Amino acid sequence: MKLRPIVRCSRLILSAALICIFNTSSRAEFQQPRIIIPIDQSFVEESTISLVFHKGDVPADAVGISINGNRLPPILDLKERKIFCIGGAKLAEGPNRIRLYLLNNGEIVEEKIASVFFRSDLFRNAVIPPPGFEKYYFHTMNHEAYCSFCHQMPSGHEAPNPAVPLDSSCFPCHTEGKSSKYVHGPVSVGSCLMCHEQKSASSKYRIEDSDEITCGTCHEESVESWKKAGYYHGPVAMGRCTTCHDPHGSEYPFFLKMETTDLCSACHAETASRPHVILSYAGKGHPIRIEKDPFHPGQKFDCASCHFPHGSPYNLLLKEDPTSMASYCTTCHKKKGRNTR
Ligand code: HEC
Ligand code: HEC
Ligand code: HEC
Ligand code: HEC
Ligand code: HEC
Ligand code: HEC
Ligand code: HEC
Ligand code: HEC
Repeated sequence: MKLRPIVRCSRLILSAALICIFNTSSRAEFQQPRIIIPIDQSFVEESTISLVFHKGDVPADAVGISINGNRLPPILDLKERKIFCIGGAKLAEGPNRIRLYLLNNGEIVEEKIASVFFRSDLFRNAVIPPPGFEKYYFHTMNHEAYCSFCHQMPSGHEAPNPAVPLDSSCFPCHTEGKSSKYVHGPVSVGSCLMCHEQKSASSKYRIEDSDEITCGTCHEESVESWKKAGYYHGPVAMGRCTTCHDPHGSEYPFFLKMETTDLCSACHAETASRPHVILSYAGKGHPIRIEKDPFHPGQKFDCASCHFPHGSPYNLLLKEDPTSMASYCTTCHKKKGRNTR
């Protein structure tokens, strides 16, 4: 199946369209090149974004984009096109510098810069966007109108479950869940609108409920049981499931944003960097990461082998009762004091 947008504009319609978009007057004027998406000084909360830019009327035989100094392959065959779209561009956490450059005979003749900030609670330098950076919402009538000259923009009222998942009208522009190793149930059947229901008047698909409510519609039992457990983990108590889980899919089991031990260490760096639980004569702590857990075949050993990530009946979110350390340790180490079954 082809995953290309439906390009339904002839050049005639397009030039008419461009004139009315870029000029409030009806007279065509000289166009400066510009980066349309992302918006300069905006912030996003996902590492992957789309890039859309306009070449303008500057004479050039190639255009290209670089992200933080890394050049994406330049587009050489311009075919009189002026608008170019690149999907799936990867950002680094924190500040990113997107540079559009135009080449003529191998020389850079023009360039434009846009700054975009990838905000995440998992990176200390990326938690708070710099002053002046605004969250950018794409799906407003104005923005969509611009793209709809060439793309079929979904109305937002399409059937929540397309018969063929990849037929979802969202996929031409969004890679969410298409290429991940582990894909979340509702995403794998193309049901974007199960969560991104069109409730908000200001922009389509925007989720205004807390994650706890969004995720709780389907994972109600789990969420309720964590709440009742007694000890509730900080970020879960704040209702922010998507701090740790990618709601669409990821390279890690449970759609985690990182491997479990890396994930926990992102916020508990001090705990993870010093000897944990035990202190051996050699100054070493308890292992916190093992590819194959000797006590639980088929599983990894990580922070979540000892701590519940969400809620627990025991202090410090432990999975087993720690009141007696001796019996606590033997839940895994059956023979006292020895590291064997
Ligand atoms: C002048 C027509 C035109 C306009 C206007 C346009 N696009 Fe595109 N877009 C295309 C074409 C054609 C493609 C197919 C890929 C290609 O040939 O570059 C495409 C592809 C894409 C892709 C997928 C790119 C990939 O690498 O798979 C995204 C995302 C996208 N467009 C987003 C947008 C957005 C967002 C807007 C509005 C801001 C927009 N486009 C406006 C013509 C256009
Ligand atoms: C023409 C391309 C295009 C199509 C089709 C499209 N989107 Fe988007 N969408 C974008 C762009 C561009 C952004 C800005 C973020 C980015 O760069 O990826 C965005 C952002 C979003 C956001 C974040 C909130 C916002 O408004 O910025 C959500 C949620 C979203 N899209 C959902 C959907 C859903 C659901 C569908 C299908 C019903 C869909 N989109 C179809 C291009 C598109
Ligand atoms: C299980 C619920 C769920 C499903 C299904 C789902 N999403 Fe999302 N999505 C979320 C949540 C939660 C967020 C983060 C909250 C927010 O920023 O709006 C999000 C955020 C996004 C964003 C914005 C990322 C950013 O920068 O903040 C895009 C784009 C998006 N979703 C597209 C899609 C598309 C396309 C589909 C269908 C293939 C889809 N989603 C299906 C829950 C879901
Ligand atoms: C529309 C219903 C629905 C919503 C809403 C939903 N999920 Fe799910 N989720 C499922 C289904 C169905 C499965 C089981 C299939 C699978 O593993 O993908 C699942 C599985 C999971 C799993 C893996 C469980 C396991 O034992 O392997 C995680 C983690 C998860 N969801 C997290 C979330 C988070 C976080 C949210 C909120 C952003 C959320 N879900 C919202 C339906 C939903
Ligand atoms: C601090 C990070 C973190 C937060 C926040 C978080 N989770 Fe998890 N979640 C995890 C980890 C880690 C696992 C994998 C546990 C394992 O390996 O046994 C997991 C597993 C899951 C599972 C599958 C296993 C199970 O226990 O049922 C579901 C479903 C789930 N999470 C949903 C959610 C929902 C819903 C929220 C928000 C209310 C949430 N998570 C918030 C880290 C988190
Ligand atoms: C987004 C940041 C974040 C992530 C990721 C995170 N935590 Fe936490 N954790 C917190 C906050 C905030 C608290 C509550 C404040 C506190 O008591 O230190 C907390 C508390 C705890 C506590 C209780 C500490 C105490 O002294 O009471 C334990 C244990 C814990 N987390 C383990 C984990 C494990 C295991 C993971 C990985 C599955 C994890 N955390 C991932 C932020 C995080
Ligand atoms: C072998 C089981 C085990 C593993 C693996 C483990 N913990 Fe712990 N953790 C404990 C026990 C037992 C305690 C309480 C005793 C103590 O403080 O040493 C504890 C205490 C904590 C505390 C509170 C006290 C402190 O040191 O800050 C945090 C936070 C914590 N663990 C996070 C983590 C994180 C993050 C990981 C993974 C990097 C991890 N734990 C791996 C068993 C474990
Ligand atoms: C959730 C299971 C679990 C619990 C609970 C647990 N351990 Fe372990 N422990 C392990 C695993 C897995 C290893 C690695 C075994 C291997 O490499 O063969 C290990 C290794 C060790 C080692 C050897 C360290 C090394 O570097 O080789 C010691 C000592 C140890 N544990 C002591 C303890 C003590 C003391 C407690 C209680 C405070 C405890 N463990 C609780 C799973 C656990």
